[in-house]
Amino acid sequence: MQRACVIGWPVEHSRSPLIHRYWLKQYGIDGAYEKEAVRPEDLARFLGSLEARGYVGANVTLPHKEAALRAAESADEAAVTIGAANTLWLDPDGTLHASNTDAYGFMTNLKTKAPDWNKGRRPVMVFGAGGAARAIVHGLLTEGAASLLLANRTRDRAEALAQAFGPSVHVVDWEDRNQALAGCGLLVNATSLGMTGKDPLQLDLKALPADAVVADIVYSPLETKLLAVARARGNRVVDGLGMLLHQAVPGFELWFGVRPEVTPELRAHVAAALGEQ
Ligand code: ATR
Repeated sequence: MQRACVIGWPVEHSRSPLIHRYWLKQYGIDGAYEKEAVRPEDLARFLGSLEARGYVGANVTLPHKEAALRAAESADEAAVTIGAANTLWLDPDGTLHASNTDAYGFMTNLKTKAPDWNKGRRPVMVFGAGGAARAIVHGLLTEGAASLLLANRTRDRAEALAQAFGPSVHVVDWEDRNQALAGCGLLVNATSLGMTGKDPLQLDLKALPADAVVADIVYSPLETKLLAVARARGNRVVDGLGMLLHQAVPGFELWFGVRPEVTPELRAHVAAALGEQ
């Protein structure tokens, strides 16, 4: 039996078991996917004993993503560029490899829902400068975005991110975010604003072109206020649940040997569980 897990502290809130257990059942695989609560000070030891614990790999969630990258013996380009890992696997020699599938998850979802997101190669506005924003900036640039505008409450964090990614990323003051939407072809909220229990995202979409795409990484609620307002004024919207589902695909394939599909049924399964909380 192949076993994988999600490692976090806390880990209870993780949605990954819902997704991977659904696929295990759907594809009739004799496998298991567990939750592992691991304290930060215990992470390196835990990862060192992954094989002895019977795991072939793991997802890594907060607060372990940076430390997991450091602990791995090899890492792919996405993990190195983003500076964090969310997917780990052991090869037959016992070597621990790290990947980051957040950029893949975001871009695959975006390309599925809005294939022409980069039509006209107009500027893209990204809100946020945390780990999620970093992954999304990496994904957008890799897939051909011509220029990115980055707005974050703490300007220094946006400056640091822009510096890491080069001259096509331009920092915009958080206070200027409304006007800066003029001419943008895509807006991405990569902050936690608008999530249930967090502050709302204060925004005026007046300047955003009517044919722009609006994407949110927040998936609880599924339809955030940002997406509701954008939809009402005619913008196409992309919610955060698709990113969550797609980022799980490469890990499942690595651990269990089947490339799983993100289907409407999986989406409904996870959405229903989110609604129950
Ligand atoms: P992650 O790594 O998951 O992206 P994070 O590093 O905590 O999480 O980042 C959260 C993002 O939401 C940050 O961009 C944060 O802005 P700061 O860099 O200024 O902290 C943003 N954020 C959180 N609360 C906010 C608020 N009340 N107003 C504006 N931005 C907020």
